[in-house]
Amino acid sequence: MPVQWVVEDPKEKNVWWPSEEMKKRAWVSDPKIYEEAARDRVAFWEKLAGEGLEWFKRWEKAYEWNPPYVKWFIGGKLNASYNAVDRHVKAGKGNKRAVIWVPEPPQEEPRVLTYNELFLQVNKFANVLKSLGVKRGDRVGIYLPMIPELYPAILACSRIGAPHTVVFSAFAPDALRVRLEDSEAKVLITCDGYYRRGKLTDLKSNADEAIKGTKVEKMVVVRRAGNEVRMERGRDFWWHELMEKADPWCPPEHMDSEDMLFLLYTSGTTGRPKGVIHTTGGYLTQAYWTARWVFDLHDDDLFWCTSDIGWVTGHTYACYGPLLNGATLLVYEGAPDYPAPDRFWEIIEKFRVTIFYTAPTAIRMFVKWGEEWVKKHDLSSLRLLGTVGEPIDRETWLWYFKNIGGGRCPITDTWWQTETGGTLIMSLPGIGPFIPTVAGRPFPGAQMEIVDEEGNPTDSGYLVQVPPIVPGMLRGLYKADEKYRETYWLRYNYRYYFPSDGAIRTLYGCIRVTGRVDDVMKVAGHRLSTAEVEDALNTHPFVTESAVVPRPHDLKGEVPVAYVVLKEGRTPSKELEAELKALVRERIGPIAVPEEILFVPDLPKTRSGKIMRRILKALLINAPVGDTTTLLNPEAVEALKQVLASRKAQG
Ligand code: WTA
Repeated sequence: MPVQWVVEDPKEKNVWWPSEEMKKRAWVSDPKIYEEAARDRVAFWEKLAGEGLEWFKRWEKAYEWNPPYVKWFIGGKLNASYNAVDRHVKAGKGNKRAVIWVPEPPQEEPRVLTYNELFLQVNKFANVLKSLGVKRGDRVGIYLPMIPELYPAILACSRIGAPHTVVFSAFAPDALRVRLEDSEAKVLITCDGYYRRGKLTDLKSNADEAIKGTKVEKMVVVRRAGNEVRMERGRDFWWHELMEKADPWCPPEHMDSEDMLFLLYTSGTTGRPKGVIHTTGGYLTQAYWTARWVFDLHDDDLFWCTSDIGWVTGHTYACYGPLLNGATLLVYEGAPDYPAPDRFWEIIEKFRVTIFYTAPTAIRMFVKWGEEWVKKHDLSSLRLLGTVGEPIDRETWLWYFKNIGGGRCPITDTWWQTETGGTLIMSLPGIGPFIPTVAGRPFPGAQMEIVDEEGNPTDSGYLVQVPPIVPGMLRGLYKADEKYRETYWLRYNYRYYFPSDGAIRTLYGCIRVTGRVDDVMKVAGHRLSTAEVEDALNTHPFVTESAVVPRPHDLKGEVPVAYVVLKEGRTPSKELEAELKALVRERIGPIAVPEEILFVPDLPKTRSGKIMRRILKALLINAPVGDTTTLLNPEAVEALKQVLASRKAQG
């Protein structure tokens, strides 16, 4: 009989608490930890930084706050790859598996990287990067799918102190180019191609296209799919050829705690993605402890975080967090429904995964595919489940709890952002409670509050972080100080960090996060800016202007819908709609393609010319649009209603 890790609340329906077994096993099970941490948050984090990481030199000052810039562990020296790999090898855990990689084609054999092997490859690849001219402080682009080389690639960058900037492999060349331009990467690591649902994507051609006009001088190409690629002499190099000749030892750079570890681009409210800066000491401290406590990572666990490395979840929980803990990661290359909708369950059964962390969007898909696929497999190895990326609805949570967790595993619903580096609101497995749609409490050492417009405490309003700003938070936006202030700090005049999410206080003082309050969409869990999609649409010669807003969607949570105003003399057509969709796919990638394009004569605007997105959103869900008399062009709303009505009539 598998262990029951949760017990139901005797009074409250749909509320669970950790069982005695769970409390015994968990790293933390005494709720006093919250008060303890709150008594002196800086001292609390100092203790964690010292216990969790190995420092070459201890810091002189723990915390400095010059709003809106924070520093942690000032003067401390450490290295991320040393902490993620060397440390475990030295401790005699070299033969432990670091990564179990499962390729998409079912006939291909899985590959295992032990900590010893990872150590060797990280060192070699660090020397490869050096031989290509990469120096401490230089940015390195990584455009790779979920293949094992990803790990040495990332950790080699951190070994030599070259911040990596990973770009999601399903992003189109244009999207990659913008990120390479902004980060000024000199080297790009990519591969020939990869499989998705059995179909080959030629990644190298994308990379060739993307680097045009950028500062990328050299490309390292991993051979994955074996497809034909064009290699430019003197510019492009095969990974395996360089690795064959590389020296097996590269001393880790002694990085300053506040040196940049990586840049990760994310979508904001403008068309240009923002480069979120994460530094070494603070980020690693938070990655280490959140991975350990939130997922209750123990030595015998097998942790599977399904996020792609292109997102922050991939960085922190499919790479740094578990590796810092010396844990074993499962990494799967492909789609959940290939060759059949039970691929995930087959993998969990075969490898005996103990911790499974995925997005609500994925779970909604599993619900749609049906329980039959799950029932074919023995999932009794699972001990803990997690979700991330978007609010989860009650039905989906309960389905996950019952069908995947067998009614015995807690679900930790983790709220966080690219900016926060690690998860900040959740229920700890040994403390609970586990409640559908409720994220939980702030991680010990973090103070998250709900406030109103003026910044006063309330039970339903906006989520904020109160200083001391936790160590894993972003240190700024790359080359965009104004944007940084404006996006996160001006709203509450530097008093709080403002993540742009709404929140409600619920049972047991827990927080339910209700979603974005800005123009950022969460499409199938992916973060997308409406402005980015608009910019792509607006490049079409027939388009005057456009407005993209999210519409609720059963599976994906939200999907973009575009209102498009055409130039004089241009008429809407099915062909034009297809063309515009293709344009978005080409410029950003498939995740950004609008589900629907509505050709409209005009967009409702305020007197100062701002598009009234609130109205556009309301119309999509047949909600009242409210007062339109103060608009510049109230008649536009009537015209929109007609377009939507005729659209409906056409089915
Ligand atoms: C949303 C993903 C509700 C939120 C790690 C946030 C969530 C944005 C949750 C960040 C959750 C993330 N419940 N909403 N558990 N987790 N979000 O940067 O709106 O891709 O601001 O980071 O996702 O998205 P990002």
